[in-house]
Amino acid sequence: MIVAIDGPAGAGKSTISRLVADRYGWTYLDTGAMYRAVTLLALEQGIAPGDADELGLLSRNLEIGFQPGPGGVPRVFAGCREVTEEIRSQEVTGNVSEVSAQAPVRDAMLQKQRDCAVDGNVVVDGRDIGTVVFPEAEVKIFLTASVSERAQRRRLELEGKGVEVAQDRMEREIAARDDYDSSRKVAPLKAADDAVLLDTTDLNIEQVVDRVAEIVEEKI
Ligand code: DC
Repeated sequence: MIVAIDGPAGAGKSTISRLVADRYGWTYLDTGAMYRAVTLLALEQGIAPGDADELGLLSRNLEIGFQPGPGGVPRVFAGCREVTEEIRSQEVTGNVSEVSAQAPVRDAMLQKQRDCAVDGNVVVDGRDIGTVVFPEAEVKIFLTASVSERAQRRRLELEGKGVEVAQDRMEREIAARDDYDSSRKVAPLKAADDAVLLDTTDLNIEQVVDRVAEIVEEKI
């Protein structure tokens, strides 16, 4: 079974997807981490976030891997190098929307993402999973929450890593990323027509996981 979980930044996709995958012993695929890995390497190699050709080449040649990590959070690898922490930097976050909007990058990632789900059950989170990558997914969820709630979650997450960011700045960044991801030409962020919309603004993690599990179990 394929469970596709899409939605804007900070809606809780990765936490929820990971916990749902854990509950059933299924694989979790974080597609945002893949775009982040491309962005990290592009920044290091001096490739501009709008240089579609060079980014396409980089993406096609990049081996992205995942391994189980502490607390269930997957470790991310670019080739043999672990990039789990580096792909979450502010610099990567600030450039990943533009990199991920380039068609050659998306083409390369689409193939890699489909390859990850050739057999077995998988929970996949991203922006275009239910619409483009796995339009035939048995379960499609569109997770969302208000901008202020999502900004607050991201801010607290960064605070936990010792990075202080003001709430209003975080809200502006989240809103800008939503705009960019939803208005790009290729595979924009949008809910699939057959996705279940789940607003998590007033729900805790356990409540959201239970609701997603209910939807999964209806399908099983
Ligand atoms: O979920 P995230 O914040 O790690 O995603 C990082 C960026 O990657 C996000 O701004 C848009 C892009 N992305 C995408 O375009 N398509 C996906 N399936 C996943 C992420």
